[in-house]
Parts: sequence; C-alpha cells; structure tokens
Amino acid sequence: MEVERVMVTGANKGIGLEFVKELVKLSKPPRFVFATYRDERTTQALKDIRDASKDTEVVLVKMDITKTKEIADARKIVESKVGDKGLNLLINNAGVLTWQGFPEITEENMLFHFSTNTVGPVMVLKEMLPLLQKSAARKDSGMNISRAAVLNISSGGGSISALSLELSKDFLPALGYRTSKAALNMAMKVVALTLNGQGILVVNMCPGWVKTDMGTDQAQLTLSESISAMLKTLPQLNESHHGTFLDRNGKTIPY
Ligand SMILES: NC(=O)c1ccc[n+]([C@@H]2O[C@H](COP(=O)([O-])OP(=O)(O)OC[C@H]3O[C@@H](n4cnc5c(N)ncnc54)[C@H](OP(=O)(O)O)[C@@H]3O)[C@@H](O)[C@H]2O)c1
Repeated sequence: MEVERVMVTGANKGIGLEFVKELVKLSKPPRFVFATYRDERTTQALKDIRDASKDTEVVLVKMDITKTKEIADARKIVESKVGDKGLNLLINNAGVLTWQGFPEITEENMLFHFSTNTVGPVMVLKEMLPLLQKSAARKDSGMNISRAAVLNISSGGGSISALSLELSKDFLPALGYRTSKAALNMAMKVVALTLNGQGILVVNMCPGWVKTDMGTDQAQLTLSESISAMLKTLPQLNESHHGTFLDRNGKTIPY
C-alpha cells in the first residue's frame, strides 16, 4: 500500500491508534501521518510511535470532531506540513457507543451519537475537502487510496437490512449508535455521489467486532487482525467501490 499523507481521527487508542502503528510499519510508509486526539493526557502511546518512527513524521493534532474551530485549526496544521500536495487519505475513525434502547432512550443520547458518529465525520471531511482535492488533482485519472480517499469507519450495526430479531436482538439497545452509523452511511453515500468525477474515493467500512474499549474484550478480533485486513483491502479499492459499504475484507455489506 502506498499512501503519502494520511489523517486518522480518534488516533489515541483502539482502532485509530492501531492504524497509526501499522501505517508507519508499512514497507513504503507514509511521509506524514496526522494522528488526532482530544485529550493530551491520552497521547503517550501516540508519542511513543512518533518518537520511534524514522520514515514517517507522525504529527499529533488536537481535534474534537464535534468542535468546528478545532477542525479548522487541525486543517491549518495539515496544510502547513503538506502544502500543495494535499491529503491522500482521511480515515474518519473517531466514534462513540453508549448503550440505550427503546423506550429508555433519551434525546441527549440520540444527539450525542449523531453529533459524533454522523455530523463529526461529515464536518471533518468538509474541512479537509480542499486538501483531498489538491491530492486528487496531482493525478489524471482513476480512484484509489494513493490518489485521494476517505475511509469512514462505520459499523455493521448501521445496516438496516442486516437487522433482524434472530441475529441482532442483543444489540438492539444500541439505538443511538445504530441510527448514527446508518446516517453516516447515507451521508457518505450522498457525499460520494456529489463528489463523483473529482477523483476522491469515498468508502464506508466495518472493521468487524474488535477488542477495544468500545468493542470490549469479548470481541472476536484483535486490533491487529482487523486493521491488517483493512490495510490489505484498501489498496484494492477503485471506482467500483465508490459510495459502498464494505467489511474489512472488501465484501459488500447491504445498507
Ligand atoms: N470496536 C469495534 O468492535 C467496532 C466495531 C464496528 C465499528 N467500530 C468503529 O470503529 C471506530 C473506532 O472505535 P474503537 O473500537 O477504536 O473505539 P474506542 O477504543 O472507544 O476509540 C474511540 C476513539 O474515538 C475518539 N473519539 C470519541 N469521540 C470523539 C470526538 N468527539 N472527537 C474526537 N475523537 C473522539 C476517542 O477519543 P477519546 O479517547 O478522547 O475518547 C477514541 O480515540 C468507531 O467509529 C467505532 O464506531 C468499532
């Protein structure tokens, strides 16, 4: 996989941190990885990767994806480093899950999920779009992650067609989460179709059920199993995957 300038949101732990860890270990690692966090006190693991990294400049960037000013400030930091080359790959990874079902569900819980899991990724993409466009403009044709791409870390939990009582009963109390990921999928499909022809690939991907604070240690996959599968799938993506919802191995998940 060859990608020069990458941003990973929510990179201080879990799936985001593992992306940074594995990106800098690639045989052709990126020149820059912009790893975002929101609380300085949670960044030790990221700092360790940054300090040990030889070929990649790992830039720690403070960005709460629900805060407009922090997103704009983050864009300025990226811009100051990459200049006219822009950003190849935005990994919209940051997300939240708290359990509440119906009818206990509160407005606050719904809006909390919607604000972080749906609105946040769209606003980050909106701010970074000129940088993705710059990167896309450096190549004439084709859609792939080396040119310009947005990978949205979604969830199979956001698939409306996969939801059934038999398969998904235990997961029903994640009402806010499921709704926000279904909305993320739709938002990014709309964005994909809107940006069609600009050379920016937009894909929604489920990482599988992964052992993280969110996924718990009951989960099926280790971080390395999930992220290495996604990193293997990413270079295979092209225009036929634009606006789709995929699992970590590149298999289509029905919306
Ligand atoms: N683990 C799974 O099984 C699984 C399955 C399907 C999809 N996913 C998706 O994978 C992504 C990563 O999840 P994970 O399992 O790695 O969870 P995690 O360990 O809980 O990490 C979540 C990350 O998102 C960040 N974050 C939360 N709210 C944020 C905000 N407002 N602004 C910026 N960053 C924020 C967190 O930062 P703080 O440390 O500051 O809170 C943390 O870095 C999420 O989008 C999740 O929905 C996970």
